[in-house]
Amino acid sequence: MLVTLKELLTEAKAKQYAVGAFNVPNLEAIRAVVAAAEELNSPVILQHAEVHEGLVSIEEIGPVMLDYARKAKVPVAVHLDHGASFEMCVKAIRMGFTSVMYDASSKEYEVNRDETKEIVKIAHAVGVSVEAELGHIFTSAVGGGEGRGSDSSEDYADLDDVYTDPDLAKSFVEETGVDCLAIGFGTVHGVYLKEPKLDLDRITLIKDKIDVPFVMHGGSGVSEENYKIAIKNGICKINYYTYMNKAAGKAVQEFLIEQDAGAPIFFDEISLAATEAMKKNAKEAMAIFMNP
Ligand code: 13P
Repeated sequence: MLVTLKELLTEAKAKQYAVGAFNVPNLEAIRAVVAAAEELNSPVILQHAEVHEGLVSIEEIGPVMLDYARKAKVPVAVHLDHGASFEMCVKAIRMGFTSVMYDASSKEYEVNRDETKEIVKIAHAVGVSVEAELGHIFTSAVGGGEGRGSDSSEDYADLDDVYTDPDLAKSFVEETGVDCLAIGFGTVHGVYLKEPKLDLDRITLIKDKIDVPFVMHGGSGVSEENYKIAIKNGICKINYYTYMNKAAGKAVQEFLIEQDAGAPIFFDEISLAATEAMKKNAKEAMAIFMNP
């Protein structure tokens, strides 16, 4: 059943759990994530990141995401992740996506605020929810394709200056009217090359100022303990992709190693091995997010 992000996150916030938001740039990922959610009877978010346009366009994958969402036995929101342009957000809204993220976090505060406000006006007029970002979420130098490539960093050990400021977060949410806010507290898109320096108390500090659902980007690769604290402190949506994608890659590698030398390799078997691995990985994550 296709639902809005706002509906999903309102319930998650009230009941103190988080909904997994999975990037799905191929049919294998869509099937894996929807099957995992149905097996756990968990709501879920399918998202397409603008930076994945090089893998698959929204015109190709969007209708498939929406079709799986409508037919799913669980509530599913279909979301645009890291929309970087007005045009992309409007395209997603016109296609029937039930939420969009407009990410102008790399711009000046006032520009981010004013541009986000415009998107909110348009999206809310047609019942679409909006996520925005304040602060900064870096992208690891390895496998961080869904984030913003320009922020790619080898060394994200010291991220003090990228954490979201609680007072600014309050003004931003009040002035823009966004439904949820992605905040910076030390998570990183892509593979964690070092132990991240998470400031989990910052989520509480922001929540003390403004009580909306918060979003964790760079959510895969975080420890179970940190997920639980983050959710208790106010995170209601966890963006998750890299480690599910990596699990699929490992399954394919193992499948290939197991084949007899010289035997023919069939792609459909590779596709099934990858789907199964992503389903298992997504299910493990969702089980934690739903029962923190
Ligand atoms: P990961 O790279 O940690 O999976 O994060 C995905 C994400 O935040 C997409 O917006």
